[in-house]
Amino acid sequence: MARDEITPPQLYLHRREFLALGAGSLASATAVLATARACAAPPPPAQKLSIAVRGKFTTEEKPTSFEDLTHYNNFYEFGTDKVDPAQNAGSLRPHPWQISLEGEIKKPQIIDIDQLTKQFPLEERVYRMRCVEAWSMVIPWVGFSLGNLLRRLEPTSRAKYVAFTSLHDPTQMPGQKRSVLDWPYVEGLRIDEAMHPLTLLAVGLYGQVLPHQNGAPLRLVVPWKYGFKGIKSIVKIRLVAEQPPTTWSRMAPREYGFYANVNPQVDHPRWSQAKERRIGELTKRKTLPFNGYATEVAQLYAGMDLAHNY
Ligand code: MTE
Repeated sequence: MARDEITPPQLYLHRREFLALGAGSLASATAVLATARACAAPPPPAQKLSIAVRGKFTTEEKPTSFEDLTHYNNFYEFGTDKVDPAQNAGSLRPHPWQISLEGEIKKPQIIDIDQLTKQFPLEERVYRMRCVEAWSMVIPWVGFSLGNLLRRLEPTSRAKYVAFTSLHDPTQMPGQKRSVLDWPYVEGLRIDEAMHPLTLLAVGLYGQVLPHQNGAPLRLVVPWKYGFKGIKSIVKIRLVAEQPPTTWSRMAPREYGFYANVNPQVDHPRWSQAKERRIGELTKRKTLPFNGYATEVAQLYAGMDLAHNY
C-alpha cells in the first residue's frame, strides 16, 4: 500500500504558495530548497540519555521502528517531504540552546536546555501518536511533564493559555527561506491541557537524545491531539491570557483548529478521520476518540461541542 494515499496538507499549501507567489517565483523557491538540500549534511548520531523511570500512561503496543520514526517526519523548516528532515536537519545546532520562559508567571527566566533537563527526572513514556494526515506511530518518548515545569514558574491568575514558539533561523533551518508556512512555527494549549499529566516536553526517544529531525533539543508531545500540535525545537514558552495563534489554524482555518483533538467523527474537509494507517502495518486501524486517551482527557472538554471546536 502506498504510504501517501491521502492528499497531505503540503500539496494544498504548495497550491496556495503557487497562487501567492506566481509560477515563476515557485520555480525559484523550489530551486532554493534544492540548493539547501544539496548543501545540508545528515544529522549526527544521537547520544544515550539516562532515564529515571518508565513513566505512567505507557502503552504496551509495539513501538514503531527507530528507522521509521526518524525518516518519516514532518518538520517543514527542513523541507516538506517526509524524508527531507532526516536529510537536511544536520544544519540545526541544538547545543547550546536557550529557552525563554515568560509571560504570566512569577518566575520569568531564560534557561539553557542542559540546566532545564537536570531539574526533572527523565521518564520514558511510550505513546500512540496520530497525525492529521491519517497515519499513526507508537513512540517511546523520553521527557518530563510540562505541568511540573509550569508549576515551578508559578503562573499568575491571568495565565489561561500557553503559547510555544519554534526557532526562527534560516541559517540553521533552510526551509525557512521559503514562505511555505508563516515562520516561526507557533502552537498553543489551554492551561489545563498543558498541565495535564499526559502532556510531555520530550528531549529524547528510544533512550537517546532527540534526533534533530524529531525536534531537538526540546519538543511538545500531546498524545490525544493531532501531531501538528507537537511543536519542535522550542525556544519560547509564554503563558498568556488569550488564546494564542497557531501555525496550521492560521494557514488553513477551515481545516485545522486550535484544539485538534483526535476525533474519528469529525472528518477533515478533504478526507475521513475514521481510520488510520499505523506506519509499518498494512491493514488500517479504527481511529479512537482522543486517540485512545479519552479516559484521561475527555473531562477537559465536558460541555464543549467538539465538532465546532475541532
Ligand atoms: N514543529 C515545527 N517546528 N515544524 C513543523 O513543521 N510539524 C508538525 C509537528 N511539529 C512541525 C512541527 C507536524 S505536522 C507533525 S505531524 C509532527 O510535528 C511530526 O512529528 P515527527 O516528525 O516527530 O513524527
